[in-house]
Amino acid sequence: MDRAQAITDQRTHYENTGWALIPRALPIEVADATLYKIQQELGGDWDSYKGDYIKTFLTEKKAYECYSFDYTPLSTLQWGLTPYISTLTGKELLPSHAYFRVYSKGDICNVHSDAHDCEHALSLTLGYSNDFLWDLNISHKYYDASERRPADIANEEGGLQLHSIPMSVGDAVIYNGINYLHGRIRPNPNKWAAQVFFHWVDRNGQYANHAFDGRWDEVVKRANFVFPDDDAPEKVNPSRAEMVKTRGR
Ligand SMILES: [Fe+2]
Repeated sequence: MDRAQAITDQRTHYENTGWALIPRALPIEVADATLYKIQQELGGDWDSYKGDYIKTFLTEKKAYECYSFDYTPLSTLQWGLTPYISTLTGKELLPSHAYFRVYSKGDICNVHSDAHDCEHALSLTLGYSNDFLWDLNISHKYYDASERRPADIANEEGGLQLHSIPMSVGDAVIYNGINYLHGRIRPNPNKWAAQVFFHWVDRNGQYANHAFDGRWDEVVKRANFVFPDDDAPEKVNPSRAEMVKTRGR
């Protein structure tokens, strides 16, 4: 796959329709490794899970969730994806936040539109328990969200038409979450399905104040390193001791 050509096509599709499928946004092995690490660290059941187990207005059932500022690897993944998605959109983006979510069997994501911090949204599939692809749905229609909620306009008009976009592991869909209705209307056919939602804002746009979820002062800071005196001994992570010995100096 020539990603440079694919990005050009995806950008055009995104500009014209409000969404674009990005096949293998992450290599499948990277998606597997990422989800495994998340499951190992956040937990894989109710007793061990360190994030939230909650039902919001978006789902019909309770789901495992985690907010990116509560679990740094989610933020790190989003920060690393930022130049990729900036290239795809042709905008200089800054992350607002991300959410990890594991849906249980039969759950849906209610059709909705997003708040201003979701100017450019990305849904990334990290894994399915049973390898059944699950579709993301996006409205055909663009809604002007400046005065009324898109869902209210759609309810009044009736006849909502939605695209169905099947997603494989590692696939992502970028969409304009503010002006297009979206969700997952077909019940999850797997025992569980794991995704991450990432949201960015244009740093030169009207929603730039949502960058870093308004937590700029807390998050965007200068690091500092302090060295010990010259005679301080070396320190090596015990798991790397053998590797260090054979690496030579
Ligand atoms: Fe959304």
